Amino acid sequence: MSIDFNGRVAIVTGAGNGLGRSHALELAKRGAKVVINDLGGARDGSGGSSEAAKAVVADIIAAGGEAIAHGANVANFDEVQDMVAQTMEKWGRVDILINNAGILRDKSFAKMDLADFRLVMDVHVMGSVNCTKAVWDIMREQNYGRIVMTTSSSGMYGNFGQTNYGAAKMAVIGFMNTLVLEGQKNDIRVNCLAPTAATRMTEDIMPPEICAMLQPEAVTAGALTLCHDDAPNRMILCAGAGGYASTRLFETDGVFIPQDQQSPETVLEQWDGICDIGNQAELASGMKQSEKFLTKAMTYVQANK
Ligand code: NAI
Repeated sequence: MSIDFNGRVAIVTGAGNGLGRSHALELAKRGAKVVINDLGGARDGSGGSSEAAKAVVADIIAAGGEAIAHGANVANFDEVQDMVAQTMEKWGRVDILINNAGILRDKSFAKMDLADFRLVMDVHVMGSVNCTKAVWDIMREQNYGRIVMTTSSSGMYGNFGQTNYGAAKMAVIGFMNTLVLEGQKNDIRVNCLAPTAATRMTEDIMPPEICAMLQPEAVTAGALTLCHDDAPNRMILCAGAGGYASTRLFETDGVFIPQDQQSPETVLEQWDGICDIGNQAELASGMKQSEKFLTKAMTYVQANK
């Protein structure tokens, strides 16, 4: 099956460098009209320049594609709204949003300034929220939308020095889970991408021979499967160095302890049953967990009438 984006309009945030640039170039090559968003700041989010975004636009146009640049700071909703308004004025629709913009402010939690925690949350979480909010009604009216959040193994599993980044990256998974439920009836599909790539974000933590294996294009190949017509929904796709995997959240079936026996001691006694992965399942929504627990409780009540 070949994947093309002819007639589609895509916004890629943080597309002036690294992964966003690679996603944008490939989308354009496959027919999408692309908004190259980039604030143009340093890796820690300081400063700003339109040069990087403009250079990507020039590359796309030189290759025969269509693109415009916009320097919105994704953490600023007014600027994001302006970007979406300009996109609508130029091309009349928004089919794809790749929330990719990001920064790092790494420090162990003991040394971390709360301002650095907030800034990272603001760019990754509120940046994704602002951009999604600005296109949501458009996608609902079109009855079509594909949204990709950029998460990270640091959020899903932890990484020393990245409490702020990890919290933010896990938050976008939670954001996706509910958007999937709310977007379903309008064919809006939302997925997460967990990349590993050699970019300026990782340049000083990996030796050059490793960086050579971690080309952004390998991640982009995965990213584009999350935003085409037949995209999945609620997938967390991990991609890097040619490896592709999926992270999924499973819950054990658990145990039931009757009301008159519930205590920390009885819960502890049941630990093996609570942790038994034999009947674990992926739950389609938060309500499914309540249903599971109530079914167990009702079964007990019926049996003991
Ligand atoms: P990068 O630093 O090369 O690119 C990020 C881009 O986002 C930059 O061009 C920057 O100017 C832009 N940006 C930053 N703050 C912005 C804001 N407020 N508004 C608009 N644009 C802004 O980094 P890279 O590696 O390409 O990262 C892309 C995404 O992938 C980020 O969300 C990052 O957290 C995520 N990621 C990257 C990994 C990697 O191995 N490179 C690993 C896991 C996640």
